[in-house]
Amino acid sequence: MSNLQVVPSDHVTDSELFRQLDPQRIPVHIAMIMDGNGRWAELRGLPRISGHREGLSALREVLDTCHQLGVRIVTIYAFSSENWNRPPHEIELLMNLLEEYLQRERSHFLEHRIRFFPIGQLEKLPASVSTLVHEVAEETRHFTERTLTVALSYGGRAEILDAIQRLAYDVESGTLRPSQIDESLFTRYLATDGLPDPDLLIRTSGETRISNFLLWQIAYTELYFTKTLWPDFRRQELMRAILDYQRRERRFGRVSHSLSRQSPS
Ligand code: IPE
Ligand code: IPE
Ligand code: MG
Repeated sequence: MSNLQVVPSDHVTDSELFRQLDPQRIPVHIAMIMDGNGRWAELRGLPRISGHREGLSALREVLDTCHQLGVRIVTIYAFSSENWNRPPHEIELLMNLLEEYLQRERSHFLEHRIRFFPIGQLEKLPASVSTLVHEVAEETRHFTERTLTVALSYGGRAEILDAIQRLAYDVESGTLRPSQIDESLFTRYLATDGLPDPDLLIRTSGETRISNFLLWQIAYTELYFTKTLWPDFRRQELMRAILDYQRRERRFGRVSHSLSRQSPS
């Protein structure tokens, strides 16, 4: 336990960071808001798409590290409902990049038995992209050990509204009574049905907001914000985020574990 109190300096080596991690307390589910691609490119005088491209390279490294550390579920925010308001040219390039990524990673998912699980308003994606997204989801759906949830054209409020609408239809058709609606039933109507809530949510690029991501699911998630831009968020940065998570006490509204063991005075 005591080694977890040590704040790793910037010069710690990869294997030292690895050694500091408690293998018993690796988060089961990590969610990530991969932000800062555009700024990464702009800082280098490059077009924004170069930042998105480099962001995919960071993603591969982060996912490989998650695999190595035993993180079972990763949920990434790839494109938000609000991102449709970006210039058409950037949207088009992002969609092309997504298609390229899926074509390239398809065999990787199959080989490493990763379930590719898309969530969001997929019908809004260009036809070629949505076809590919559905195909890859279908061919990997039977994998149970590891899941990569990809939020595409996703918004947390829209997801909740969609759940409410389907609940209302079920009440209207008589298959459900309003008194049956509780948290666990509601969760089953969400796109993330079947997944445990994220233990840790990471947002890169210095923004300290949620931007409409997983609003219901992060009620008790530990939040980690870093100034690092997503394309620079690599293996060591991920290990630092997990170390930070492991130093926290998740109380879920209870009193501190150490206090609860003290005898009443
Ligand atoms: C995140 O990077 C990727 C997407 C939203 C698709 P940004 O494109 O938002 O990068 P910044 O925030 O402009 O730097
Ligand atoms: C959030 O990033 C969405 C994704 C990373 C896909 P944005 O860059 O779109 O969020 P805001 O606009 O800074 O809130
Ligand atoms: Mg951004």
